[in-house]
Amino acid sequence: MASYLLVLLLLCILGQSFGQSQLKLVTVLYRHGDRSPVKAFPTDPHQESAWPQGFGQLTQEGMRQHLELGQFLRRRYQGFLSEPYTRYEIAVRSTDYDRTLMSAESNLAGLYPPNGSQVFHPGLNWQPIPIHTVPQDQERLLSFPLSNCAYYQRLMNETEKTELFINMTKTYADFLEMVRNKTGVESTTIASIWSIHDTLFCEEKHGMTLPDWVTPDVMSTLQFLKNFGFQILFGVHKRVEKSRLQGGLLLDQIIKNFTTVSSLKPNGQLKMIMYSAHDTTIVALHEALNVFNGLQPPYASCHIMELHQDSNGSFSVEIFYRNDSSVAEPYPLTIPGCAHHCSLEEFIKLTQSVIPTDWDKECMMNTGSTDTGAGEEAEIFQWRNPLGTRDSHVKRAWLRQIEQEGRVSIRGESLKQLRCCDCILSQCSADVLPRRSARIFRQCSAYHHLYLRSSSTHHQCCAD
Ligand SMILES: *[C@@H]1O[C@H](CO)[C@@H](O)[C@H](O)[C@H]1NC(C)=O
Ligand SMILES: *[C@@H]1O[C@H](CO)[C@@H](O)[C@H](O)[C@H]1NC(C)=O
Ligand SMILES: *[C@@H]1O[C@H](CO)[C@@H](O)[C@H](O)[C@H]1NC(C)=O
Ligand SMILES: *[C@@H]1O[C@H](CO)[C@@H](O)[C@H](O)[C@H]1NC(C)=O
Ligand SMILES: *[C@@H]1O[C@H](CO)[C@@H](O)[C@H](O)[C@H]1NC(C)=O
Ligand SMILES: *[C@@H]1O[C@H](CO)[C@@H](O)[C@H](O)[C@H]1NC(C)=O
Ligand SMILES: *[C@@H]1O[C@H](CO)[C@@H](O)[C@H](O)[C@H]1NC(C)=O
Repeated sequence: MASYLLVLLLLCILGQSFGQSQLKLVTVLYRHGDRSPVKAFPTDPHQESAWPQGFGQLTQEGMRQHLELGQFLRRRYQGFLSEPYTRYEIAVRSTDYDRTLMSAESNLAGLYPPNGSQVFHPGLNWQPIPIHTVPQDQERLLSFPLSNCAYYQRLMNETEKTELFINMTKTYADFLEMVRNKTGVESTTIASIWSIHDTLFCEEKHGMTLPDWVTPDVMSTLQFLKNFGFQILFGVHKRVEKSRLQGGLLLDQIIKNFTTVSSLKPNGQLKMIMYSAHDTTIVALHEALNVFNGLQPPYASCHIMELHQDSNGSFSVEIFYRNDSSVAEPYPLTIPGCAHHCSLEEFIKLTQSVIPTDWDKECMMNTGSTDTGAGEEAEIFQWRNPLGTRDSHVKRAWLRQIEQEGRVSIRGESLKQLRCCDCILSQCSADVLPRRSARIFRQCSAYHHLYLRSSSTHHQCCAD
């Protein structure tokens, strides 16, 4: 029995190292850890002096979260990353904020504790690891949304005119006004209210008493609206177009790095690229990959992309999301149209539509004052080749039909998704929307958004 188990164990070990695939390169992108609020509202009793280091700073809790994430990465990639720090193996880049730089430092303390000859001072269980950054006004890889892009501004203007956005504004008009009145801010909108939630969330986490008007109900409505605020940044309306101008830039770089390593003569020993950034960075990348779950990424949540080489020599990509340190294994993510273990070639093909060819030029697109729906549509079709059909008549017919039925205004999505969306919305409107209960409407619109991104429902819905 014992020898049988031993053989099994050996098989497992062999299977891992010589089996289906071998890890070649890992890209991790994480959000900084727990921080103080970025600002306070006028009537807030807890102003900047309430925080030891002022606004927007990593707290000790945040440092611990990143130390833990670094230790997790050490365990996960033990045997892949060398145990001693080896400078060729890892490249670290952070945005130029105190909290992201300090998060990267805490993380690396967990990933590369010195041992043996790397201990440079007895009793100090830490060694320096370089972290690179660029000034905030030059950051084009990790800070989203990039605001100096006119077409993106226009897409956001359009987003605020979508039915969904207008409905949300109407549904929550009283709530927004109540929050405005209580906080003393000049205005509260669906797009700006996340910041009130953020401040209250930080204060609550750090044991500060919240004002009387902030009941658990108010907090959960704020949280819901905050998540919607994240959804509209790069999704809801023209996700593909927005992604080309935002998260597609980062995805482009990641794909280029994967491609370099998969090329016939990979040079160098690079094994991990590490990015320290923000919740919006993760959301931008998730929207570009069409895997966003609609929720603000928690502190220290970590997006992982692994490049594997299969035993037949070809390369594949696997994506994971560690948004909860109490869950043992990160969630595997699957881009629509591919398996979780997705061949690099297929991965590149499926994400091609969100990779900008000329960012500066595309930012100037469509920013004239005339705006005829037809011209816009034609442009969209030049931009992409929706799944399958090349027949633009078919596509147009679909779009027209869906638009005429007044169900949806997300012309930017691919045909299959439109069909799926159509299916979901018709279910929603048939039995739910007429009742107009705020709660149910909320659910339906949240589902609408989530379902669009869930591949299983996608298949189920588009099964015909
Ligand atoms: C440090 O290195 C020694 C041998 O050089 C090894 O036995 C030990 O497990 C290492 N410790 C850690 C924490 O990696
Ligand atoms: C967006 O809307 C604002 C005000 O509604 C306007 O000032 C701005 O010019 C618009 N931007 C674009 C790019 O359309
Ligand atoms: C918005 O609300 C109107 C009525 O208030 C409704 O007819 C329409 O279906 C809603 N649209 C969406 C996208 O939920
Ligand atoms: C809030 O509402 C109360 C009661 O309607 C009103 O007296 C007060 O002036 C309002 N405060 C602000 C800042 O709008
Ligand atoms: C990743 O690819 C980009 C674009 O080709 C390149 O500039 C960058 O140096 C690469 N990163 C690393 C760590 O090799
Ligand atoms: C983490 O992501 C998974 C997959 O999208 C989701 O089901 C879960 O609710 C998320 N958890 C948190 C804490 O955000
Ligand atoms: C190589 O193997 C992988 C995984 O087993 C498989 O998905 C892929 O299709 C194979 N590629 C070729 C070119 O045979």
